[in-house]
Amino acid sequence: MTLFNENYAKLPGSYLFSTIAKRVAAYKEAHPGQQVISLGIGDVSRPLVPAVVEALHKASDEMGRSETFRGYGPEQGYAFLREAILQHDYVQRGIALTADEIFVSDGAKSDVANFQELFSQACTVALQDPVYPVYLDTNVMAGRTGAFENGRFGGIVYLPCTEQNGFVPQLPACHADVVYLCSPNNPTGAAMTRAELKKWVDWAAENNSVILYDSAYEAFITQPDVPHSIYEIPGAQQVAVEFRSFSKTAGFTGTRCAYTVVPKALQVYGRDGVAHSLNALWLRRQTTKFNGVPYIVQRAAEAVFSPQGQKQIREVIAGYQQNARVILQALQRAGLTAFGGVNAPYIWLKTPQGIDSWTFFDKLLTHAQVVGTPGVGFGACGEGFFRLTAFNTPQLTQEAAQRIAQLQF
Ligand code: MLT
Repeated sequence: MTLFNENYAKLPGSYLFSTIAKRVAAYKEAHPGQQVISLGIGDVSRPLVPAVVEALHKASDEMGRSETFRGYGPEQGYAFLREAILQHDYVQRGIALTADEIFVSDGAKSDVANFQELFSQACTVALQDPVYPVYLDTNVMAGRTGAFENGRFGGIVYLPCTEQNGFVPQLPACHADVVYLCSPNNPTGAAMTRAELKKWVDWAAENNSVILYDSAYEAFITQPDVPHSIYEIPGAQQVAVEFRSFSKTAGFTGTRCAYTVVPKALQVYGRDGVAHSLNALWLRRQTTKFNGVPYIVQRAAEAVFSPQGQKQIREVIAGYQQNARVILQALQRAGLTAFGGVNAPYIWLKTPQGIDSWTFFDKLLTHAQVVGTPGVGFGACGEGFFRLTAFNTPQLTQEAAQRIAQLQF
């Protein structure tokens, strides 16, 4: 008899976006003539930009010639990409890091999922509610929580993000060893200002805690007081790991490339009180379990930082930002309350008349043929809310927004 990891039994039956995909597929099958528009999963609709495609072609040709063919690359990424990331995303913002503090990977999702392995099972984890399910589910899988009761896992410190606090997490009253923060936020679209983030960095320094900072949506920031990187805050290199992605920034959801910054100044401790470098531990983990991102993909990611690449991706992002404005305006015209969409590609809609979020999902699907994500799928505090994404095409976004606005509630 082979025993399984019973922590998996604590999890909901399927991953949120798989559940939604199944429900939508069933609806489409039953209503073949209807055009269903997805503002659901945050998947991009615009193709890769020309600078990226050109780099892919060139790198593919290199792989086909014996003089330029490459086998295994460095697990933590080629120097050309790590340098490009360093210069563009950090040095140009006045942040002093080094290339060996940057680890290239196949996605921020896998990195945020895997990173918790480096912490003791005894660590207390704090996370926002609502939250991107991967942070929570992977800690459940690792056995860092109790059972799921009344919408909450035992042992987790939940940081409620509500309309009252502007969906910004407040410092916890109790200790937490590891805190996940996502800003601009998935799913609420709220973004922390420098002053709000500074409180967290100071708190982590005082409490010897580690912040796992997901800034996958930083390219969507429009307001100057919202930091693009946690390392804009003094002292953050001693307390924070940062996750970034090319997925939403450059349309790499299917191409897969991301990176994680683990500063060398960041230390964790053994039970004997001896300090260990988190950077060294992550390097050890990655070199053992990961063989790196394909050369071709890393060349494509490098092209994102070229002047043409930057110009082209900024146009694409501007298109998604315009979609967000279109959705927000349509919802406002319809008298609905909505948040986010200004520094993030996510709009967090308050369901009318307190309809619960799965009922709202069904109503939108069956009456407007629009797919969104029920807020409660991201946590108990998401009940009564609904997430819409700005990633569809301008035409379909406009059409979906009109359909929602015309619904009678
Ligand atoms: C989402 O819809 O929340 C995102 O697509 C999730 C992800 O990036 O993995």
